Order: sequence, then C-alpha cells, then structure tokens
Amino acid sequence: MRIRKAVFPVAGLGTRFLPATKASAKEMLPIVDKPLIQYAVMEAVSAGAEELVFITSNNKNSILDHFDRSYELEKTLEEKGKTETLKVVREVLPKGVSCIYIRQPEALGLGHAVACAEVAVGDEDFSVILADDLIDGRLRPCLAQMQRIYAEYGTSVIAVQRVPQEETHKYGIVEVEPIGPRLGEIRRIVEKPKPEDAPSNLAVVGRYILTPRIFKLIEATERGAGGEIQLTDAIARMLEEQTVLAYEFEGTRYDCGSKLGYLQANVEFALKHSECGEDFREWLADRAKEL
Ligand code: UTP
Repeated sequence: MRIRKAVFPVAGLGTRFLPATKASAKEMLPIVDKPLIQYAVMEAVSAGAEELVFITSNNKNSILDHFDRSYELEKTLEEKGKTETLKVVREVLPKGVSCIYIRQPEALGLGHAVACAEVAVGDEDFSVILADDLIDGRLRPCLAQMQRIYAEYGTSVIAVQRVPQEETHKYGIVEVEPIGPRLGEIRRIVEKPKPEDAPSNLAVVGRYILTPRIFKLIEATERGAGGEIQLTDAIARMLEEQTVLAYEFEGTRYDCGSKLGYLQANVEFALKHSECGEDFREWLADRAKEL
C-alpha cells in the first residue's frame, strides 16, 4: 500500500516572516540553495508520491513557476555548456510526477486548506506535508518512515514529537496509548492547550497520512482556535470513528515558520552542504570563538 497523492497547503499568510512574505511565498524561502517547498516535494516523492496537490493563494505564483519548465533559462544554460546547473534546474520536479494547483480563496485555516484538496484527492488515502516544518529524517525521510507504518496498519498516521511542556500552546497535542516503539493510538487531540491543560507533551508536526473521511469531517467542523477551521478539530472527530496513529519520527525538525528555526535549519544544512559546507564550518568556528 502506497500513498500516491501528497497535499501541500501553501496558502497561509506567513505573518511571522513579514515583510519577507508580503509579496512572496514563505515556502519559497531558501534553505541554503533550495526553497522549503522543494525539500517538502523531495520528501513526498521519496515516499512514493506521484501526484502533488498544492493549495495556493495569491502571492504564491513563484511556487507554480518553480515546478514548471523554464525554457529560456534551460536554453541559455545549454548554450553556455553549463550541464551540471542545467541538470539541477531540470530535476526540480522529479520525472513521472505531476502537479495540481488549487486556490484557497481565503486563509481560513489549515483544515479549510486541506478540504480544498478533496476534488484532486477523491476517495484515496493521502498525505499532507507542511513545508515550513523542515524535517531532516535520520535514516530515511519522515514521510517514508510514516509510509512504513501506514503499510502495516492501513490507517491514518500523524507525525509527533516531544516538545518542552511550556510550549504546548503552540501545537496540537495528543494523548496516546502506546502500541509499539515510537507508535501509539491517539485517544485525544487538543489544539494549542495551555501547558497546565495539555494531556502530554507529544506535539503534532507537519506530516499527516489521512483517510478521505477527513474531508467530510472538516466540512462539519466550525471555526476553532484563532477563528480558523482547524485540522486538529476534524482529527478529533475522526478518533470517534477510526484508528489514528501517532508516530514519533526519527530525525530533527526545524520550525521554519519561525525566524529562529529557519536560521537553525540554514546553519545545519549549510554545514552539510557539499559545495560550501567545509568553508562555512571554518568560518562559523572562527565566528563562534569571537562571540
Ligand atoms: P501556519 O500556522 O504556519 O500559518 O500554517 P501561516 O499563515 O503559514 O504563518 P504565520 O503563522 O502567519 O506566520 C501552517 C501551514 O498551513 C498552511 C500554511 O501555508 C502553512 O504551510 N495554511 C494555513 C494554509 O494553506 N491555509 C490557511 O488558511 C492557513
């Protein structure tokens, strides 16, 4: 069993990154030399996705352009004999993968954005990736780890991570009954609880494998925290009908929707970069001594 369709909600306003996100997409912010959305697409494709569904809004056209062919650029690179660079440009969208773009007319929340994907997803299980949660999976990408769990259990799987108790108000928090290593059945899920009300410190991060039942449940979901239609609230309803698993993935997550997480991701990815990693490491070590 393989998930063929991946949904990328990219219609958020990105207010934490203003003014950078005033006229351009948060998901196009680069981590060294690739935009966040490209890492998300690479992860989905590595887990077997063939159809990519982007939920977009105005100011997000650069995402469409990024995954489109750029004939003029390719021609110029070809003429100049820059074959390596040409390869990099052509491989932005892996072969055999197609893209669908759907507009979310208003930023009414992540739940609403996911609901917009129904026409493209239909009656299939699918994945959702939030590009601003950049995950460096230890041995394999996070979604590929989740795909393994899905293949075994055939049900919804949500990626979770332990967070400091005082940060529960930033996340959806789950209460689980453990059923295996790093794996639990979700008993309860709450959006952004205060630390004293949180049922645990297991936080939902931006990777989901969901059954299409979620679409009907989102439809029945009213506006919740922040006046938005929350995916968490629809998942809470799902728990009454279906098994939903929480999987503590192996790897490191960077919250690239926040300035600090974004800077940390850039440093870590730069240190590992094949072209500039060594020089950057040297510079960083010198700079750290000065500090
Ligand atoms: P965030 O909560 O990070 O919101 O959304 P945001 O608007 O992107 O950023 P801030 O908080 O204002 O700085 C999580 C994910 O859900 C998408 C976002 O694009 C992001 O990938 N999203 C959110 C939508 O697609 N539509 C929405 O209405 C809300």
